[in-house]
Amino acid sequence: MAEFTLPDLPYDYAALEPHISGRIMELHHDKHHATYVKGANTALEQLAEARDKGDFANINKLEKDLAFNVGGVNNHSIFWTNLTPDYADPAGSAKDLLDGEFGGLENFKKQFSAAALGIQGSGWAVLGRDNATGNVSTFQLYDQQGNVPFGVTPLLMLDMWEHAFYLDYVNVKADYVNAFWNIVNWANVAERIDAAKA
Ligand SMILES: [Fe+2]
Repeated sequence: MAEFTLPDLPYDYAALEPHISGRIMELHHDKHHATYVKGANTALEQLAEARDKGDFANINKLEKDLAFNVGGVNNHSIFWTNLTPDYADPAGSAKDLLDGEFGGLENFKKQFSAAALGIQGSGWAVLGRDNATGNVSTFQLYDQQGNVPFGVTPLLMLDMWEHAFYLDYVNVKADYVNAFWNIVNWANVAERIDAAKA
């Protein structure tokens, strides 16, 4: 089975300042994301071991560990590329989607921010596209793996775990979400929309 690896950040740790500090980016990537990679590989190993032994007493715990950690790996990999130090307004498919489905960028920001700020506990705000219908919506992803149905492709994700903002914004989540809008990589979102439609 393929091992998970930690992808490099596509920019320097401090590149997103003043919106997200270099210290947070370093900890978030090198410690948190790395821990999910390790956890995902450990869960895979333990599941293989359970299969070898025919011992499935811990199968539910192992499968939850796998889902949580693979979620952590994939969510962060998407998140890093959803951000950029070189902000540009939505264009192409991203602009079309925001205008056509959400009534424009400003309305979309309100909906997505409400989803982000309403998360109880740890989770993510997600803009996702249903593969079967092409419908798009915002979602609250609980922890790393809950509350979003299969078949939804993530286009834009915002990490609302405390580790993502607390050093910079303490408990003022709204300031973090407002800062996020200055570093969204709309070109990456457009690429994800095009890939999802292809
Ligand atoms: Fe995170």
